[in-house]
Amino acid sequence: MISFRSAVVCGLVHFCSLHAALAGSVSTQQIIKDLKATLSPGSEVVLTSDPAFAQDFTARFSGTHAPQFVVAAKPKLVTDVQKLIKYASRQKVPFLATGGGHGYTWSLGQLQNAIQLDLGNFQTIEVDAAGNTMKVGGAVRIGNVTQELHALGKEFPVGMCPSVGVSGLTLGGGVGPLGGFYGATSDNLISAEVVTGTGKILTASATENADLFYGIRGAGFNFGVVTSLNYRIHPATNQGRVTVVNAMFPANLSTSVWQATNKYVGHHPKELAILFAIRFNETLGGMSFVGSFIYFGPETQALEVIKPFLDLNPLYLEVINDASYSNFSSVALYGDVADIGPKKSIDFAPYTLNLYKVDVKNLVSSLNHMNATLTANLNLRPATLSWAQYSPEGYLKFPLESSAFAYRDVVVWFSYDGFTTDPAQIPALDKFGKDIRGLVQRGSGRRDLETYVHFSHGDEGPAAWYTKGKLPGLRKLKRTYDPESLFSWYNPISGY
Ligand SMILES: Cc1cc2nc3c(=O)[nH]c(=O)nc-3n(C[C@H](O)[C@H](O)[C@H](O)COP(=O)(O)OP(=O)(O)OC[C@H]3O[C@@H](n4cnc5c(N)ncnc54)[C@H](O)[C@@H]3O)c2cc1C
Ligand SMILES: *[C@@H]1O[C@H](CO)[C@@H](O)[C@H](O)[C@H]1NC(C)=O
Ligand SMILES: *[C@@H]1O[C@H](CO)[C@@H](O)[C@H](O)[C@H]1NC(C)=O
Ligand SMILES: *[C@@H]1O[C@H](CO)[C@@H](O)[C@H](O)[C@H]1NC(C)=O
Ligand SMILES: *[C@@H]1O[C@H](CO)[C@@H](O)[C@H](O)[C@H]1NC(C)=O
Ligand SMILES: *[C@@H]1O[C@H](CO)[C@@H](O)[C@H](O)[C@H]1NC(C)=O
Repeated sequence: MISFRSAVVCGLVHFCSLHAALAGSVSTQQIIKDLKATLSPGSEVVLTSDPAFAQDFTARFSGTHAPQFVVAAKPKLVTDVQKLIKYASRQKVPFLATGGGHGYTWSLGQLQNAIQLDLGNFQTIEVDAAGNTMKVGGAVRIGNVTQELHALGKEFPVGMCPSVGVSGLTLGGGVGPLGGFYGATSDNLISAEVVTGTGKILTASATENADLFYGIRGAGFNFGVVTSLNYRIHPATNQGRVTVVNAMFPANLSTSVWQATNKYVGHHPKELAILFAIRFNETLGGMSFVGSFIYFGPETQALEVIKPFLDLNPLYLEVINDASYSNFSSVALYGDVADIGPKKSIDFAPYTLNLYKVDVKNLVSSLNHMNATLTANLNLRPATLSWAQYSPEGYLKFPLESSAFAYRDVVVWFSYDGFTTDPAQIPALDKFGKDIRGLVQRGSGRRDLETYVHFSHGDEGPAAWYTKGKLPGLRKLKRTYDPESLFSWYNPISGY
């Protein structure tokens, strides 16, 4: 059943009562027996207490307010996915599709005693280099695709972490350094195979089930399980060669650093991504900016474009001129992104908000507050602010009405990551993260809180994730494709 603690923390008490009705009465042993009898050979069904679960199934990135499973199933065929959905619906047992396992919204913690529908058998990648298309299975990860595409002199836009699932990423949009060229990952989707909440196997594209196609590009975890996805890919920019410049700035330069970032607003070169991890540095005895400038072009151009930052005399400077489309994220931020492997679960209080301008004064005062708070509280020191500033150019090539993806004019994707190795610190990191979100929002450029669904904490609500304008249409889609609300665990469009 749903735990009281997670209900209180997320403030979603009425949401729980809706789903309490879902917990079926069938025993765990019976579920195992039924699924083994129902699914085709080559499928795997285990108790999560079975050692085979840790061995064969997809691990979760975040261990905080994570979904809790009692049974895990790895369907072999699309028809097995269909059978599992129909079975779970009939028996009223909740389940969750799992692609890369990197979803971290605390809304997932509402899911208890559930079946993990692991897409681990859907691993194929088929590239049509001449036709510039690529078809991937529902469990393929970013790193799998970038390696394959790089070898063929191709690319398509992905996020920063190689172990994130491509399908999961796409279903919420997908933002990253190549978005300046090609928009969100979801903007590059041509079609997908979807097993809906009604148990139908459908193709969604601009010409087939176009309403569902609209919905799965931005709100995709609300309607069904996506078993394969067909994308447009592109010839590699600069032959796939990427320049990465890492630099560190002490926080006493924060006004100048943010003034520098502000220079790019309104004319951000599409080749450039500006990333900062802003965190406490024990040696410096205060906050610091660890920065990465990722440039899809040669070193000389990169250094020219980021001159406003170089002029600040960073404490450390590292210029990597031999990075590529398939390894830039492993060398960015001094290799910190790569450290987050697919197998370990971490504890983590996430917050986020979209920024539509760089309000230097408000950011400096928020950072001073953070510096003072972390100086006084050792337990909050792992808290990190994450700053991702991409060119909006590619996103704005696609009309807002083209899909459910809600945010195309974002200047900075701002997050607070309250990471810790000690789960007992989560309540403090959580409270502080919420404070920081409130402070930074004053300078966001929008009155209401707007948050990218994939970076969201889970407490913002559907209007923040999908916008008020899109909600009525999405709820109509929900009634068509998932009337029983089987897919309502990941920042859901209804149930609030
Ligand atoms: C370290 C890290 C870095 C990240 N960086 C970025 C980034 O740069 N840009 C960005 O846009 N996002 C980023 N994200 C967010 C990421 O896109 C989301 O966490 C996304 O949900 C991960 O997808 P997944 O398949 O790995 O996760 P999962 O937990 O497997 O899935 C997330 C949700 O989507 C559903 N889902 C997944 N696959 C399917 C499917 N095939 N069919 C139906 N439902 C499915 C799941 O049921 C779940 O509700 C990052 C996340 C982490 C942890
Ligand atoms: C995809 O990446 C995962 C994790 O990095 C790896 O275990 C798996 O073997 C890769 N799959 C393919 C098809 O390359
Ligand atoms: C951070 O706080 C410490 C302790 O109060 C102070 O010495 C330092 O100057 C502060 N740094 C900044 C950038 O505000
Ligand atoms: C800023 O901080 C750095 C690193 O701690 C230090 O070397 C430098 O002198 C400081 N500058 C000013 C103006 O305080
Ligand atoms: C902290 O700053 C020092 C330089 O003063 C640097 O050598 C070190 O790598 C920094 N630590 C982290 C974790 O960034
Ligand atoms: C990245 O990949 C390129 C080309 O595939 C290779 O030459 C380079 O050494 C790699 N760089 C790093 C830092 O791993």
